Amino acid sequence: MKKELSFELNGQHTSLWVEPGRLLTDVLREDLQLTGTKVGCQVGECGACTVLVNGAAVNACLTPALSVMGQSVLTIEGVQNGDRLHPIQEAFMETAAVQCGFCTPGMVLSAKALLDANEAPSDEDIARGMSGNLCRCTGYQKIQDGVRLAADKLRAKRQDTASGEEGQL
Ligand code: FES
Ligand code: FES
Repeated sequence: MKKELSFELNGQHTSLWVEPGRLLTDVLREDLQLTGTKVGCQVGECGACTVLVNGAAVNACLTPALSVMGQSVLTIEGVQNGDRLHPIQEAFMETAAVQCGFCTPGMVLSAKALLDANEAPSDEDIARGMSGNLCRCTGYQKIQDGVRLAADKLRAKRQDTASGEEGQL
């Protein structure tokens, strides 16, 4: 029997009826039409389905939808600010860390979880933080470059914000 799932999705209170056992990927993509979350392996190995739950990166393909009851979920659709890309998205574009783009939503969200927790990650920190996300196209160097540039951009924005200029991270 369906249960009502109420949670915060990309900053908005969201409520819908869900069959027990349905996965978060299916509810996001099929019920809510948020197809930015990709589905690759479906066994927790590729990271294409990465979303943030209460700020932590999780594989939505392994997450029962009802387990996010009352939690805060961020998908790629909620990362940018209006029509302005998030600095991580800008950095990925500027470093050519995007080719086919299939892995990119998950990469951006893993990078966000990493950079929210560590504003100046070492190369080892970046490699570890992104280790759950696979990419068939870019090799990983450009993604590493993208995350490093994103860290620089976010630090600069924080400084602008601290000195009173407009900025949202
Ligand atoms: S689709 Fe979820 S980890 Fe691959
Ligand atoms: S850009 Fe194609 S899988 Fe990563």
